[in-house]
Amino acid sequence: MSLLVRGASQVATPLGSTARRGEELGGIKVVRNGVVRCEGPEVVFVGESSDHDRRFPPAERILNADGGCIIPAFVDPHTHPVWAGSREEEFNRRLAGESYMDIARSGGGINATVRATRAATFDELLQGAMTRLDTFMEYGTTTIEAKSGYGLDLATEVRMLEVIGAADRNHPVDLHPTCLAAHEVPLEHRHEPDRWVTELVEEIHPSIARRGLAGAVDVFCEDGVFSVDQTRRILADADALGWRIHLHADELTPLGGAELAVEFNALSADHLMCITDGGIAALAASETIGVLLPGTSFFLRSGYAPARRMVEAGCAVALATDCNPGSSPTESMPMILALATLQMGLTIEEALTGATLNAAAAIDRAAEIGSLEVGKRADIAVLNGPSYHHLVYHYGVNPIRHVVKNGEIVVLDGHRVDSKSVTRL
Ligand code: NIG
Ligand code: FE
Repeated sequence: MSLLVRGASQVATPLGSTARRGEELGGIKVVRNGVVRCEGPEVVFVGESSDHDRRFPPAERILNADGGCIIPAFVDPHTHPVWAGSREEEFNRRLAGESYMDIARSGGGINATVRATRAATFDELLQGAMTRLDTFMEYGTTTIEAKSGYGLDLATEVRMLEVIGAADRNHPVDLHPTCLAAHEVPLEHRHEPDRWVTELVEEIHPSIARRGLAGAVDVFCEDGVFSVDQTRRILADADALGWRIHLHADELTPLGGAELAVEFNALSADHLMCITDGGIAALAASETIGVLLPGTSFFLRSGYAPARRMVEAGCAVALATDCNPGSSPTESMPMILALATLQMGLTIEEALTGATLNAAAAIDRAAEIGSLEVGKRADIAVLNGPSYHHLVYHYGVNPIRHVVKNGEIVVLDGHRVDSKSVTRL
């Protein structure tokens, strides 16, 4: 069935099916008074309204952008969307001066969420994830990368990844599962972390791979969590399982995580608040995407990644929420764009590409999503404001009016709709 999104002040989108870098990062295409036409789940036309009307019959369904701006829906390439409990007490302790790592060392942090998640049922976890996915979607995101990592034992890691699979099947938002069993050393292994690494490599990862529950792996490579040597061992093993690699790299300390990600031809090196000049050079000379998570810097009140220097060095950068209960409890990509521009110095055009096309590249999907072009998926967001600048300019509120996923309207006038009722319109 056809759908025509019209009545927009402009369509703004990056172009291409691979990550943009350098000057190309900000080179978006803007069509004034543009329209987007979808047939089924695919985009079949992007351009001027008059051009469309000459070439196509009237569409079966019309979505009125009502003077707003049309952009590709966001892709969020780094999230931890499945968890139980919450950590607002720790947040309060951080506001009073304790650090994230001090809290983690005292048994809180990731391990606090692990306790709650191990105790939660499949249905409880699924319900929590589905609620978060509604919020992701209402804020314009239609695809996320989704990590496990609050189980830290086989049964709970499997349960989390099964929840991610069930959420993918039952929610319009697409989820790309990543096994992050190497998120932390569980408390029961605190005194023998190398045994935990052995268990990951010999039992947990192979068992998850056999079940086909994840296509990628991630490791929290950090002082006091997994050392560079331990991370290398885990990545070499995951590589042999055929998994793609993401890496929590140089988040709190400069350990050479970016270089390690490049060494393994990772899809992405993420966080990078403490990336060194050597790490920037390595990333710039590679295909690995630097996924920047300014929400985490904001929420932890730590430094931001050197985004400008990275872009100028030629790194392909993307943006993500890092949605998780400890260091960045938000589903909002517009908030991330606000931080990326106002705090990290990206232009709005660079941030838009980072949150769409380059974000898609960070999960190896840039051929299908991340821009509005003929042949790509019809994953579309319509902003309330008349230009893409309003994404950031009108900050602190939700700038999203409508969302289309696979050619179906899933958010209308800011509210989630049952896509079946829309097709009957
Ligand atoms: O990306 N760095 C490790 N993992 C998350 C935090 C997870 C948590 O605190 O629950 C992050 O910041
Ligand atoms: Fe993370």
